Amino acid sequence: MGTVVLGTGSCLPEKVLTNLELESIVDTSAEWIKSRTGIESRHIGGKGEKTYQLATQAAQKALDSAGVAAEEIGLIVLGTISSHMLMPSSACFVQKELGAKNAFAYDINAACSGFLYGMDLADKYIKADHAMKVLVIGAETLSSRLNWQDRNTCILFGDGAGAAVLGYSPTDRGIIGSNMHSDGSLWQLLCMHAPESLNPDLVVDGNAGAYIQMEGREVFKHAVRAMADAVSGLLEREKISRESLSLVIPHQANMRILNNLIDRLHIPQSKVFINVSKYGNTSAASIPIALDEAHGSGLIAQGDTILFCSFGGGFTWGATLIKW
Ligand code: UT7
Repeated sequence: MGTVVLGTGSCLPEKVLTNLELESIVDTSAEWIKSRTGIESRHIGGKGEKTYQLATQAAQKALDSAGVAAEEIGLIVLGTISSHMLMPSSACFVQKELGAKNAFAYDINAACSGFLYGMDLADKYIKADHAMKVLVIGAETLSSRLNWQDRNTCILFGDGAGAAVLGYSPTDRGIIGSNMHSDGSLWQLLCMHAPESLNPDLVVDGNAGAYIQMEGREVFKHAVRAMADAVSGLLEREKISRESLSLVIPHQANMRILNNLIDRLHIPQSKVFINVSKYGNTSAASIPIALDEAHGSGLIAQGDTILFCSFGGGFTWGATLIKW
């Protein structure tokens, strides 16, 4: 162990889009969205708002809560699939905005698992270099990458950012272990094309546009099974019982996925942190936003065992255990 969370932060855009407002955008009903997904509203970026700006605000709050200066950060990893530019990375923009001049910075493209992949990476860096402090961020403006005519997807997602500062503690606290997976063979079930090639020879067949495409039912089946298996495998490997878990913070995809996951895991719902009704699925940002809310509302105490799990496009998925 040894890699602890020193502070957390989050940031949601001010603008809120309700289910009722979606009725005037796409052929849907507020009631359908609420009953099928549990989502009631989501925050979406306002004019000019960018992923790195949400990320910077979340990161600054995490630094403040950790009592760590930007100059002390050695690495910034940012999970996102909705940067406003392909190059430079959003992580480099955050580095500039924070004045984190001693950090190197890059983005991770692991869709909804971006934050957990980032935590896993940070854990390995910190274990190799105890002086290292890492800023792990998940941030999205997915509203810029949705087909607003596709009711199967546009009602599900939202924008936001969450962040955590990770560092070393010479105690028995910290990241216990993680169990990360990918399966690229199923990429077509949940994907987003790049902008069209400018080289006619490299034009990709079937590129309808740079927005999320999803086979919802198929994704649903894989997501529940994969997260449950990753969690069970991790608990078994680390010899941690379900009963000893203090809190579970899953990726906030939608209530149907969460309810099925809870049933499969045999964990009481009272131990599962859920905020999807307010934010929808914010992809890489969903776990760090939930973590910051749980932390801020006093739901996490030192010594608690916390479990995270995620699933996203790629497919990418995994689970992480931490002793707080
Ligand atoms: O991070 C992982 C990201 N992925 C996800 O979170 C999504 C995983 N998928 C799911 O959780 C579920 O598939 C959904 C909640 C997205 C959808 O629930 P479903 O019960 O699987 O709906 P469906 O896609 O099978 O569609 C059922 C019906 C269809 O109509 P017909 O063919 O039965 O007439 C859809 O056209 O519901 C219709 N429908 C809608 N109706 C009103 C689909 N979207 C909407 C909508 N409003 N927004």
